[in-house]
Amino acid sequence: MNFSIEQVREQGDRVAIVSGGNSGIGLETCRALARKGAQVVMASRNVEKAEAAKLDLLKSVPNARVEVLTLNLSDLNSVKSFVGKFGDKYDRLDYLINNAGVMFPPLEKTLQGYELTFATNHLGHFLLTGLLLERLTSTPGSRVVTVSSLAHRQGKMDFSNLNAENKYSKTGAYAQSKLANLLFTMELDRRLRRANAKTIAVAAHPGWTQTNLQVHTKIFTFLNPYFGQGPADGALPSLCAALAPDVKGGEYFGPAGFMEIKGPPKRVKAIAAAHDLETASRLWKLSEQMSGSSYLD
Ligand SMILES: NC(=O)c1ccc[n+]([C@@H]2O[C@H](COP(=O)([O-])OP(=O)(O)OC[C@H]3O[C@@H](n4cnc5c(N)ncnc54)[C@H](OP(=O)(O)O)[C@@H]3O)[C@@H](O)[C@H]2O)c1
Repeated sequence: MNFSIEQVREQGDRVAIVSGGNSGIGLETCRALARKGAQVVMASRNVEKAEAAKLDLLKSVPNARVEVLTLNLSDLNSVKSFVGKFGDKYDRLDYLINNAGVMFPPLEKTLQGYELTFATNHLGHFLLTGLLLERLTSTPGSRVVTVSSLAHRQGKMDFSNLNAENKYSKTGAYAQSKLANLLFTMELDRRLRRANAKTIAVAAHPGWTQTNLQVHTKIFTFLNPYFGQGPADGALPSLCAALAPDVKGGEYFGPAGFMEIKGPPKRVKAIAAAHDLETASRLWKLSEQMSGSSYLD
């Protein structure tokens, strides 16, 4: 495929939410959407950081329409309050970019008692998407883009240890959460089809991109300048999933270069486990229980 952001049409009245929009791939996703004229909601847990990121964005896109709204994905109450504030101001939602994530933090439990990586990368986005569903399905052509990773290939859903009840492996928790991102996307898209909704769910991964994500790993931070692409390039698969004209629900985009580490976006394949119907359904039900929110049943 030949995706070029330059060829994307002006976005007019379209509205986008980018979780983790204050940093790395999320910030570049916001910048590109704003450059195309979309109204961008930079959803961020740290307002100070987000306001600084907004200033940075405005330097490169002076006429950008960007608003910062507080969203802490690891606190389910913050997700609810974000959706309330968004709903008060916006009556449409064209692009929900589930981008925010943490990688390899030390073991930590959230306010609701869930393991931080799973709670941030998957559960918070599950709730966010559900609470925004009405806005999405009432907006023609809307898309939910969830950002996964090459690391999903090492992922295994260990439902008996989802909250690190027995053991905690930083790498295992991250890979599991990124597999969960893909299981969620595929299941969400199946359920949207069953409900005859026009909204589609799509996934993306940025290969290896130089961002703050690697903060907990000295080796990745050291190797970043050698292997990582810049965040603007890392944002292209997400932007392609959101904006390319011929995208179908359930598709997955990543870099076209060697081992999908860098390069322009193309359609890529997830491992077979990401398409497993039984695992996806089990994850969905558990996510409903854990978040206290059911949708698309
Ligand atoms: N960089 C890569 O090579 C790479 C590879 C594969 C996949 N990814 C994925 O790409 C996505 C974006 O990561 P990035 O590389 O751009 O890293 P990043 O620069 O660290 O950005 C991550 C963003 O997520 C936000 N975040 C973390 N916890 C949050 C929470 N509880 N609530 C709300 N926001 C939260 C961070 O906020 P703060 O700024 O406040 O920390 C930051 O804005 C992630 O899903 C990641 O898994 C990245």
